[in-house]
Amino acid sequence: MVTEIDLLFPTAESAISDDRIATLYESHDPAQPWLRANFVSSVDGAATRDGLSGGLSGHADKRVFDILRTLCDVVLLGAETMRAEGYGPMRVDAVAEHSRVLRGLAPQPVLAIVSGSLNLDPASTAFTDAPSRPIVFTTAGASRSRRIAIDAVADVVVCGETELDVTAMLAELGGRGLMQVHCEGGPLLFSTLLEANAVDELCLTISPMIQGGNSPRIDGGALALGIALDVGHILVGEGFLILRYTCVRR
Ligand SMILES: NC(=O)c1ccc[n+]([C@@H]2O[C@H](COP(=O)([O-])OP(=O)(O)OC[C@H]3O[C@@H](n4cnc5c(N)ncnc54)[C@H](OP(=O)(O)O)[C@@H]3O)[C@@H](O)[C@H]2O)c1
Repeated sequence: MVTEIDLLFPTAESAISDDRIATLYESHDPAQPWLRANFVSSVDGAATRDGLSGGLSGHADKRVFDILRTLCDVVLLGAETMRAEGYGPMRVDAVAEHSRVLRGLAPQPVLAIVSGSLNLDPASTAFTDAPSRPIVFTTAGASRSRRIAIDAVADVVVCGETELDVTAMLAELGGRGLMQVHCEGGPLLFSTLLEANAVDELCLTISPMIQGGNSPRIDGGALALGIALDVGHILVGEGFLILRYTCVRR
């Protein structure tokens, strides 16, 4: 059911404020665990352009992307997204920090990365300049030497033997008080979360572009899932459709 259609930047008079946008994403009980995923895709379903998401994005999409970081306890990433997109420290600006504190959240979100291989650079600023110590979820098969290297800059948590145990990962996050989980991708991690029936919400921006080619889809070729979605709201800005869906849990 469509509950709201709003315009992000149509005219100065009706432009929607950051606070109003944030409110639209706060419909669930913050005391309950919640896993939100956020993606941008072209109209024909491409999740990358020239190998990255940035070429599909725009100002309106980035604005919502930043606001979503003000609403979560932890930003969850697949290792390939961290490597490809060159993630630095997970740090929101002073205004967002203030808004987080007003919401009862820690000033900065924690960064959590999923990596089976632990092929991550411990010298990356995502670790060395992190406002709070990142968490790296891995599996029992990860190499000991890589584990020692990452252990120096992050909390390494083993969840699963060869494949990520999503339930164990979410329990670990919940045990640390990190209930509001915000996944920024990528497609392979999202497929893992979908297959584990762990996703509560999908925020999807449709970029006004037909990309063509063989870019991955946002679900990274997940198994045939057929997960039903309810539409929460639709924002429109600069030709981008900014959609919020909740997943009907199987
Ligand atoms: N359109 C968008 O909104 C959007 C958002 C994010 C990313 N992207 C794009 O997507 C691409 C990266 O996505 P991706 O799908 O290739 O990778 P990804 O999901 O970001 O990361 C995949 C990696 O995460 C770890 N991982 C994920 N699931 C796992 C599991 N079940 N068990 C163990 N480890 C697991 C593995 O790390 P190891 O390899 O370290 O073992 C795996 O290779 C980039 O091009 C990025 O630009 C697009």
